[in-house]
Amino acid sequence: MILSKFVDELPIPPILNPRWKDQFYTYYEVNMTEFKQSLHSELNDTTVWGYEGSYPGPTIEVESGEKVFIKWINNLPDKRLLPIDYTVHGAHVDVPEVRTVVHVHGASVEWESDGYPDAWFTKGFKQVGPYFRKQIYRYNNHDRACTLWYHDHAIGITRLNVYAGLAGFYIIRDHRERLLNLPSGKYDIPLMIQDKTFNKDGSLYYPKQPEKPIPELETSIVPEFIGDTILVNGKVWPYLKVEPRKYRFRLLNASNTRFYRLKLDSGQLFYQIGTDGGLMEYPIGVKEITLAPAERADVIIDFTNLEGKNIIMTNDAPAPFPTGDPPDENTSTVMQFRVTLPLSNIDTSVIPSYMGPLPKIKEQLASKIRYLTLNDNVDKYGRKLMLLDNKRWDDPITENPKLGSTEIWYLINLTEDTHPIHLHLINFQILDRRDFDVEKYKKERIIHYTGPAIPPEPQERGWKDTVRANPNQVTRIIMKFGPYTGLYVWHCHILEHEDYEMMRPYIVIR
Ligand code: C2O
Ligand code: CU
Ligand code: CU
Repeated sequence: MILSKFVDELPIPPILNPRWKDQFYTYYEVNMTEFKQSLHSELNDTTVWGYEGSYPGPTIEVESGEKVFIKWINNLPDKRLLPIDYTVHGAHVDVPEVRTVVHVHGASVEWESDGYPDAWFTKGFKQVGPYFRKQIYRYNNHDRACTLWYHDHAIGITRLNVYAGLAGFYIIRDHRERLLNLPSGKYDIPLMIQDKTFNKDGSLYYPKQPEKPIPELETSIVPEFIGDTILVNGKVWPYLKVEPRKYRFRLLNASNTRFYRLKLDSGQLFYQIGTDGGLMEYPIGVKEITLAPAERADVIIDFTNLEGKNIIMTNDAPAPFPTGDPPDENTSTVMQFRVTLPLSNIDTSVIPSYMGPLPKIKEQLASKIRYLTLNDNVDKYGRKLMLLDNKRWDDPITENPKLGSTEIWYLINLTEDTHPIHLHLINFQILDRRDFDVEKYKKERIIHYTGPAIPPEPQERGWKDTVRANPNQVTRIIMKFGPYTGLYVWHCHILEHEDYEMMRPYIVIR
């Protein structure tokens, strides 16, 4: 079943209202429920899970430095919506099916409020996971202005909970950004890009088995999920009517597995102004933007003088990335911009020539270097299993940086996929990527480089929390651990990998 393109308008998630706000703190409550929502006008309403009755969830907007408390409340039914594989870590038959825990991706948060995968809770907090510490999470928001997102992180079922709809934007604003006079208000729009597949009746389809089924299991995790339909902010192939002026779009890839390489079919440039962790030093004009799952790009698109034009945002990233099939005529389309609204005011917003300093972390500051491999392995059912440093989720903790210390991590990819590697708590900078001899490494555990160090792409020169670690390359990142101590995680953000062992705890110690 192929749905028509550009027949529904792009929804913009509502801004969440706090329950309480005074000069000291802000308090929100966010309910997770199951409901039906129209994802396309030719499709029956789809049963989804969302926050505050909305998929994507409402946007949480805070000011840098604002103290925010959020009570995330699980009001979901007791029955799962999508097929669970009970052989996956943390998802065994002895735990409740419907578990949730919320993580604000990219935020710097005390560990008890970070959404540790084993800190899950059920409806009414009746049952909780072993690392559950508190009902009300605390966010100090001392980060600079940036585009974050919140999503579910429950152990072993994150891929299903996020696919069911549990994701939303979390935007931090600050004074410095306001002074730049970027497009703002209704000209500042977040775009959450996802892929899904639908059953004929409009319900969400998620596979019960990989292409080559596992006969011993009724349901088995799949090595990747590639949907045949693209949604933006929860609508299939939407359109957005725009004025002939500049707009700011906060692009987020919130898909399970799919990467996007976005372009405008008008040949226009995106003016990228921000990365995962906030504004860059200078804007850059780019023809295409690659986004792995969880990566963000903050861009300005200028529709000035384009009255009457329709512009399509396209995608040409292979799936799985980078060696899979190219997208077909459907998945190569993301959404459409229609320059049909009259200009309501003179556009006085600007694309600034300089946005602020972004000091590079010096390599000499690093007190520790870690060499960490990304491997594939095979489980007892013959399924491919991706690991970090050949260790499983339950193996003893090996990454234990000291509070305030700087480290360099070498991500040595021995697999054939690009893995988007994400660290909680901190933002890092990408130092470089370098080709190396994989076979030699597998035999002798020696890194033999076969090419020069390649600096990060222009679009990655800023604060990052997720980095594409490409096959046959060593990707180096540098970061300073803090300001909190405690238990966090690092993982591949392909959710099917994360749920099946490609995630590790790490601890920041005093
Ligand atoms: Cu976006 Cu550990 O998550
Ligand atoms: Cu995160
Ligand atoms: Cu991965």
